[in-house]
Amino acid sequence: MNLEIDTRLVEAYRRDGFVHAPGLLSAAKIAEYGAAVDEAVARRKARDTRTLDEKTPYEQSFIQCQYIWEDFPEVRPLTFHPRVCGLAAALIGAPRLRLWHDQALYKEAGGRETEAHTDHPYWPIAGRDNTLTAWIPLQAVDLDVGCMGYVPGSQNDEAAFIDIFTAPGAGKALEARYADTPARFVPCAPGDVIFHHGHTVHMAKPNRSDRTRRVYTAIYFADGARRGGDRAHPSVDRDGIGDGGVIDGAATPLAWPLPDGRLPTPAPWPEMTGRRAQHAKLLGIVPDTAG
Ligand code: SIN
Ligand code: NI
Repeated sequence: MNLEIDTRLVEAYRRDGFVHAPGLLSAAKIAEYGAAVDEAVARRKARDTRTLDEKTPYEQSFIQCQYIWEDFPEVRPLTFHPRVCGLAAALIGAPRLRLWHDQALYKEAGGRETEAHTDHPYWPIAGRDNTLTAWIPLQAVDLDVGCMGYVPGSQNDEAAFIDIFTAPGAGKALEARYADTPARFVPCAPGDVIFHHGHTVHMAKPNRSDRTRRVYTAIYFADGARRGGDRAHPSVDRDGIGDGGVIDGAATPLAWPLPDGRLPTPAPWPEMTGRRAQHAKLLGIVPDTAG
């Protein structure tokens, strides 16, 4: 498939470490995909009846459902959308891309800010400049609802592991380092997509509105990348890819270009017996087909 790539988007991404692509998808299609993601989140979270107050600070930033392309086939055309994946490949300058994982990030009404962090240190993927996230709002997202902010140029810095999961406030220390180059916050309309580099410092505003901020994200990496380190992660552990191995299993299918133009088929999850894995399944963070 031939795609017209706007070189201004590529230049902005390389300079700033993020780029806002207005109207990359149609608002009508976003309404369709949004309904599919809503259904996935509702079904995954059916057993989690906690109120916002009862959740951990990290969970108060958003409801998180990962790998939803696998158990919700209606989501797949968005995960592997040629306009999203083709542009993502051009941004990182890779001929082929793989999916690392997707996720719904639904910030509930009254939800906490998303603290500043960088993504790549969370993933055992060797290299740099070879990962990026497509952040796809399923509705208009402004400062009140919880739009994203990005520190321009921060992709060139050494990325640190910021523990936003169990150390509330950790992101504030990172933000303080960038007092001279504050984050740029980016309101979006339905159909817009924002791409950010795996090393870019980013965060999101709290949701001060009375409605949920509905967002779908997909993380892609350059085909050929190897596992870097033994940090546990389903995207490599499921396929038994050890440190240094090429990441090319069924959990991380080719996203661009799609082989034969066909959407990938997910593989079953191996049995998961660990306490953390059971918890993730119970809370709907990962598919229920998981062992
Ligand atoms: C958010 O949507 O609030 C955070 C997204 C991200 O960290 O990539
Ligand atoms: Ni992030």
